[in-house]
Amino acid sequence: MNNDEDGGPRQPIHDGEFDVWTKYSFIKGQVPKFHCNDPVGLRLIEEQNPVILTGSDLVATAFKWDLSYLTEHIGQGPFAVFCHGVSTSNDALSASPSASTTVQSCSCPQNNRNNHKDNHNHNGNGQGSSKIKCEGDDSLNKKKKVKMESTSINIFKYFDDKKLQALQDKSTFQQDIVRTEMSFEDFLNKFKGDRSKERVYLQQPLNNTVGRQIAADFVGFNWPWAMEKQKEWGWGPLTSNLLLIGQKGNITPCHYDEQQNLFCQLQGSKRFLLFSPANFRCLYPYPVHHPHDRQSQVDLDNPDFDRFPNFRQVESLEAIVNPGDILYIPMYWWHHVINSEDTIAINFWHKAGPNTQIEYPLKSRQKVAMIRNVEKMLLEALQDQDELANVLHCMVDGRF
Ligand code: FUM
Ligand code: FE
Repeated sequence: MNNDEDGGPRQPIHDGEFDVWTKYSFIKGQVPKFHCNDPVGLRLIEEQNPVILTGSDLVATAFKWDLSYLTEHIGQGPFAVFCHGVSTSNDALSASPSASTTVQSCSCPQNNRNNHKDNHNHNGNGQGSSKIKCEGDDSLNKKKKVKMESTSINIFKYFDDKKLQALQDKSTFQQDIVRTEMSFEDFLNKFKGDRSKERVYLQQPLNNTVGRQIAADFVGFNWPWAMEKQKEWGWGPLTSNLLLIGQKGNITPCHYDEQQNLFCQLQGSKRFLLFSPANFRCLYPYPVHHPHDRQSQVDLDNPDFDRFPNFRQVESLEAIVNPGDILYIPMYWWHHVINSEDTIAINFWHKAGPNTQIEYPLKSRQKVAMIRNVEKMLLEALQDQDELANVLHCMVDGRF
């Protein structure tokens, strides 16, 4: 039984539910809240700081989008739904739900993992003359044993399928979720099903398959405001509007995106933990070529301080986002998202604006962009993911 700090017993957690109000000692403050016309909030956004805007009519025509309205008007789809649970475990992938089409399935079933390992040359042991031999680097060439555990059924840890296909050492990846496409009705049945067995998270970009009423609501968004702000804030073009429908307790674990995000809450509340790009060394992102690129390797609820010692220094802000609120998540800011209720939200993703004058010292977000580019360029030159780590160690260890 968990105990509160004061020693009293916590509320029991019901089957299929999770404690959405875990106390984290690394939360150092709240994301500031401003009325959408307040110039102070707007200026903070321009400077790429997270802000909650209240009182905005940007998506006022969508405030009525609840499950029954969407059921009636959203159209035939199909809709992208991430599934997590018993029926989507690796062993059960072939038995995908009858009404659903599995469009992404695991190319690395658990029982094949050892075969993957044997079929690849992982250890950079000198076969092939292009390997750089670094004095005393044998320990680097020994594969780190990565402990693989299934994540809890409520953690929706996104992965990039293309990067999975290209991953040399598949034993460093475990698939927990499955992306499927299904009708809204099938999604709703799962949404209302037994959450202790299967959890679902709809994440579908709005497109021209939506019904007429939803399209009319979409056209009714305050596009003049959106375009004015895009220009004012120096952002690039809008890339998509993602509709998200999540169950209470679902978590999108800590990651950053390479786009500017205006996140509009329509129904229910969400709890965001936001970490500035300066936390890069504390959050230990996967390598850029890994399917979990842009995500933290650290389990925030059970951090392994032996592997990730800098996590002790991590610092975050918290944002509780309620219906009608808009959260600005700046590009390269880490976010860990907890659905504290059943939720419906829609976001606006924008490309970065053109690079204006570069000022020194560089900002943390610019250094993250640089690190990503260096990693990509080195891998492109080496054409070997294991060699990448060796060369990076060679560059740094004992030198700087
Ligand atoms: O679960 C979520 O609402 C995730 C949002 C995001 O990553 O932007
Ligand atoms: Fe995100």
